[in-house]
Amino acid sequence: MPQSDAAARAAELRRLLNRAIVAYYVDDAPIMEDAAFDALYDELAAIEAEHPGLVAPDSPTQRVGAPLSDRFQKVRHLSPMGSLEKVTTDEAIAKWAEDVRKRLGGDEPVAYVLEPKIDGLAINLTYENGLLARGATRGDGVVGEDVTVNLRTIRAIPLRMLGEDVPATIEVRGEVYMPLSGFRTLNERLVAEGKQATPNPRNAAAGSLRQKDPSITASRPLSFWAYGIGAHEGVDLATHWQTLQWLKEHGFPINPFAERVETVEEVAAHAHEWEVRRAELDYEIDGIVIKVDAFDQQARLGSLHERPRWARAFKWAPMTAVTRLNRILIRVGRTGALNPWAVLEPVEVGGVTISRATLHNEEDINRKEIREGDDVVVQRAGDVIPQIVGPAGPHRRGTKVFRMPTHCPLCGTEVVKPEGEAMHRCPNRACPSRGLESLINWVMAAADIDGVGEQSVRRLWDLGLVRSVPELYRLTREQLMALDGYGEISAGNAVAAIEASKAIPFSRVLFGLNIPDVGWVTAQNLARHFGTVDALMNATQEELVEAEGIGPERAEAIAEWFRDDENRRLVEDLRSLELRFEAGDEEKPVEGPLTGSRYVITGTLERLTREQAEAALEALGAKVSDSVSSKTTGLVVGEEPGKSKLTKAEKAGVPILSEADLAKLLAR
Ligand code: IVH
Repeated sequence: MPQSDAAARAAELRRLLNRAIVAYYVDDAPIMEDAAFDALYDELAAIEAEHPGLVAPDSPTQRVGAPLSDRFQKVRHLSPMGSLEKVTTDEAIAKWAEDVRKRLGGDEPVAYVLEPKIDGLAINLTYENGLLARGATRGDGVVGEDVTVNLRTIRAIPLRMLGEDVPATIEVRGEVYMPLSGFRTLNERLVAEGKQATPNPRNAAAGSLRQKDPSITASRPLSFWAYGIGAHEGVDLATHWQTLQWLKEHGFPINPFAERVETVEEVAAHAHEWEVRRAELDYEIDGIVIKVDAFDQQARLGSLHERPRWARAFKWAPMTAVTRLNRILIRVGRTGALNPWAVLEPVEVGGVTISRATLHNEEDINRKEIREGDDVVVQRAGDVIPQIVGPAGPHRRGTKVFRMPTHCPLCGTEVVKPEGEAMHRCPNRACPSRGLESLINWVMAAADIDGVGEQSVRRLWDLGLVRSVPELYRLTREQLMALDGYGEISAGNAVAAIEASKAIPFSRVLFGLNIPDVGWVTAQNLARHFGTVDALMNATQEELVEAEGIGPERAEAIAEWFRDDENRRLVEDLRSLELRFEAGDEEKPVEGPLTGSRYVITGTLERLTREQAEAALEALGAKVSDSVSSKTTGLVVGEEPGKSKLTKAEKAGVPILSEADLAKLLAR
């Protein structure tokens, strides 16, 4: 290609690629497929290789430079980078706002900007005539380390500011962070390579930025949000809110959840809303930053010990913690699945003390490389059972790789692992665990009885006082009082709660019967379709498949369950105790924004249990079924999804939803 054509084409490619980067990171509205981006990128790289004179400093190909031979140089920020004073209560927010009001003379209106407090690391980017000249870590706030070569590899950081009216000099400040999804894949990769996993996204981001070889930083999933400016020449901005818009127009990604409010009540309300909603985000936020909006007010308020009086960080309790994994125990579920779980050294996470966590299966435990005796990172998301993220730090204490027992810990039957399934199972239908676990399921989930906990059920079982659901309804106050922890009053209350639970809807009773493969959704579908237990009990397989979400295999399993005399006796026994065996108002479908849609969920979700996800969808009017068909609106895919469901969905052109998509859907 002649030089002049090459120059024109290179400029065009640079423009297209930079526009795609801005669309992706700044506007959150991608305009190009990854493959198209890669093709244009390769074309530009080829032109530049042929005509080295055409290489521009802001070319997207120039993000990964040569490794540093020496340590990072120290650089002095043009203006110091302060830090934020913390508040943790509503009262403290109100007190601060009152102090702000008084210092400003008492009757000026004060507007605030709220931003998520990203848990990453603060950096300072200096742009000269629109070009990224230097990027540094915060350091001690006055002097930081020059990590320009590494920051250039982060695509969310513009190498050149957008627009014509660029200032001669400006410091742009913000947070470099690692998205949670990237953090997980990075750790999986590190572990697979025999390297040490990183304990949290913040450390992962910091470690990635301190690499001598920028190609390593480039391989790390880092991103960036800008949240302010430092020293600047040639820009005239009056408020923080205006500054955020200005930064966005100039090509910097601004967190989409930043907002401006005009009362302190709204400040507190939004801060609390985010404490819950943060579980939806793909990055960690450890609080909300509250800033007085007007720069003239900021200037009059000033700072105390490099902490501005015009801003506060409203912090929540951290959602991750490090603790010792003492033991891995096995619990046999009500369907015979062997569920490993972790006994942890008690630790506070997000304001709650936790001492156990779920571990999905053998493969999952060994993929995460966790062993008894290790220090592990535990994480709580929303209200969900805590999870173990992985080992913490380099010092492994555990020596024994985890293996599932070969025999059921309760009945000694040899366990099986069906082809293609992740779970080990005890095949013994008479295994005591099934009785105990289904009783626990009755008390904790199906009937949700207040005042009777899992421990009490286990004690009652061990003492032989309650070995079935009907026996639970015959339990007396005196029998309960014989257990530790029950006095006359609490035992009386518990017995009353058990009695009251006889009124639970038919679908809950069905769910609690422990019919194979009948979870929440199927139980509701069956209750709705058949109306009474007699109709259901006498239904043929052909009649059963007519109900929503029932395939031939499930129909056969249900019919078989009802053919068993012992099961029929259980139904009669519960009926004579006056539990409900007819559908009522509760089984009527809900009208809502999702009425008319049908969803299927496959795999394990991280932030919700299956039941919670199903209940949330149904509460909005959606139907949830267990099999994919052309009528399915969407397939929600968690971890370890069922292959056949995925294939079916792809074939039928059913949209695939991630857990994040589901969260968005539910947030409507
Ligand atoms: S403003 C004068 N805004 O929190 C300090 N900081 O102690 C101005 N951070 O070092 C900081 N998100 O690493 C600000 N939206 C946000 C932030 C944020 C995270 C971090 C930053 C800073 C620390 C404050």
